[in-house]
Amino acid sequence: MVKITVLSENTSGSIGLIGEWGLSMVVECSGKKILFDTGMHGQMVANADFLGIDLRSLDALVLSHGHCDHTGGMRAFLGRRGRLPVYAHPDLFALHYVSLPRERYAGVPFCQKELESLGADFLFGREPREIASGLWVSGEVPRGTPFETGDSRLICFRNASKEPDPLADDMSLYCTTEDGLVIILGCAHAGLVNITRHARQVTGVERVYGIIGGTHLGAVSDAQREATLDFLKQLNLQFLAANHCTGLPVIARLATLFGSSFHFAPAGTCYTLPIGEES
Ligand SMILES: [Fe+2]
Ligand SMILES: [Fe+2]
Repeated sequence: MVKITVLSENTSGSIGLIGEWGLSMVVECSGKKILFDTGMHGQMVANADFLGIDLRSLDALVLSHGHCDHTGGMRAFLGRRGRLPVYAHPDLFALHYVSLPRERYAGVPFCQKELESLGADFLFGREPREIASGLWVSGEVPRGTPFETGDSRLICFRNASKEPDPLADDMSLYCTTEDGLVIILGCAHAGLVNITRHARQVTGVERVYGIIGGTHLGAVSDAQREATLDFLKQLNLQFLAANHCTGLPVIARLATLFGSSFHFAPAGTCYTLPIGEES
């Protein structure tokens, strides 16, 4: 069983909570409480207070990737929590940029030293790591699906030149439950098909019960989106809560396609899986 609470998302699901572009979720599994991402500006701290979630009780932070809408709340969060393990990919601090509507830096808005001085004990790794019984940090996801070419607006600077951003640091969480896998996404820059295949390989569990988080399907090519939707339909998902960078038009489409299996997941929503929606 896994309990997932959305602390911060582009939209708010309740009076008293504030939405901001970004994503932050608390994942409770096998007696551990893991924070997955921190949102953009630290609104997750006030939202946690409102929801009655004590951030000082968290065991670890996992960062899905270096984009600022997932790491920008780290200063506020660490200020509240203090020292804790932070799982991330070694490319977390890569020079991530976005080219539209104007070229700008979109990576971690703090330097590593500042975050360490605030209490971040970075545990960098490319390999899958089981951080609680049945809960895996994916590590680097192999890119084997030809149509998953990603978001062409995302670029990075390497060796003083600009190139498409491989976002090798993109990681997800894989959780095994008695009804199958629950895949928890940050932005799914590695591609939803690649991530699902990797999750099956890492955990040895074939059946996918549910998916929650940012799918990035709103910002990829039409060909990638349609092929990914075909793939999702074949999974026979019992639970799909696509939010954040999925974008509202694709969210609306998924809600139609998946009917009662689809859930909106703004800030404040909480799911206990595989049992069902709690609030
Ligand atoms: Fe994002
Ligand atoms: Fe991202």
